[in-house]
Amino acid sequence: MAPETLPVPDSPLPLAGRHLVLGLSGGIACYKSAELLRLLVKAGATVQVVMTEAAERFIGPVTMQALSNRPVFTSQWDARQPNNMAHIDLTREADAIVVAPASADFIAQIAQGRAGDLLSLMCLARPAQRCPLLLAPAMNREMWAHPATRRNAAQAVADGAVLLGPGVGDQACGETGDGRMLEAEDLCNRIVAHFQPQVLAGRSVLITAGPTFEAIDPVRGITNHSSGKMGFALARAAAEAGARVTLVAGPVSLATPDGVTRIDVQSAEQMLAAVLPLAPGHQVFVATAAVADWRPATSAGQKIKKDGSGNAPSIAMVENPDILATVARLPAAQRPYCIGFAAESHELERHAREKRERKGVPMIVGNLGPATFGRDDNALLVIDEHGTREMPPHGGRADKLTLARALVAEIARRLPTLRGQA
Ligand code: C5P
Repeated sequence: MAPETLPVPDSPLPLAGRHLVLGLSGGIACYKSAELLRLLVKAGATVQVVMTEAAERFIGPVTMQALSNRPVFTSQWDARQPNNMAHIDLTREADAIVVAPASADFIAQIAQGRAGDLLSLMCLARPAQRCPLLLAPAMNREMWAHPATRRNAAQAVADGAVLLGPGVGDQACGETGDGRMLEAEDLCNRIVAHFQPQVLAGRSVLITAGPTFEAIDPVRGITNHSSGKMGFALARAAAEAGARVTLVAGPVSLATPDGVTRIDVQSAEQMLAAVLPLAPGHQVFVATAAVADWRPATSAGQKIKKDGSGNAPSIAMVENPDILATVARLPAAQRPYCIGFAAESHELERHAREKRERKGVPMIVGNLGPATFGRDDNALLVIDEHGTREMPPHGGRADKLTLARALVAEIARRLPTLRGQA
């Protein structure tokens, strides 16, 4: 019998069907807004750009028109709107207003409820319940640190606005500190995250990811091809869904997802030592790490040298602790809901089923090792007490973040029955 299938979203574009107003107020960070607009469109959103007069000093509306494929609005007196009510018409169809850059002056206007130009007028006139206001502050560090700006930003947040950033680093003025606008990719990720269903709000998730590295000597070791991408995608998806996420990562060169607490380790023993004390404080444990099965019995203190005899050194190996099985054996009151991953080269379903039994975990996610290591897409088999289901359906593949979001939804569906256990 063919395995059942589990839904993943129809479109892999995370902003498909969303309509955004992208507002630009005056600041040098306007040059980043063109890239942000491109990313939002690439993510599937339709975007209406609105610029203040000051923003037009920094970047031309023609650029933004070409990238959004829509005329840009700059004035509340724009005669193109038949009823001359751009502030109403443009906000009623929007799923959010994103102001990037949001200058100190613009945030002050928002805090005071002023409506002196089209963009601030739209922020005031938007239906706040269904059209959130996301502000990406961008200004000199002294301006951001000024008590007036702090007060205004706090007031804007108290009135329901969401701050995206600001970031810290080099500023166009030559100074360094807090206040620069987040990079376009970071902003786009946060906007996408804002729209994810908060199915794990108030939950805590512990994740292992990546390979482990078992040292032979100070310069050599045993490791594998795991890229960590699936585990990092799950960490991101869980954080987007509102969970508190702790990610214990083996040696990988991936950026930490926004809002995720990361602990870097090298070996399986270090991974276990990091995970064990944390596990009872989390409600869900997802073991995506490709933990080395064995490690050298001893790690040489110095590099092992060739001795010229032509003989290779023999390296005695010992088995590593099984982190997932160890957590799954914790007393019920301390045990999170455990999900394991099985990377197999053949007979995936049979091996994954056996693994679920052997490790004593309620859910195993199977994938074919050669078809997932290092790749951005994957195909999963979700195996639990109800049976086996393909994700995505019909032998398809999906990118790892899309799969991670679908898995997070699956995990969230199981959590109400766990209330009080974690
Ligand atoms: O036994 P195997 O390595 O195939 O099992 C895979 C699953 O078990 C994955 O979820 C992996 O993260 C976890 N595992 C572990 N500790 C080990 C070996 C595997 O947590 N030593």
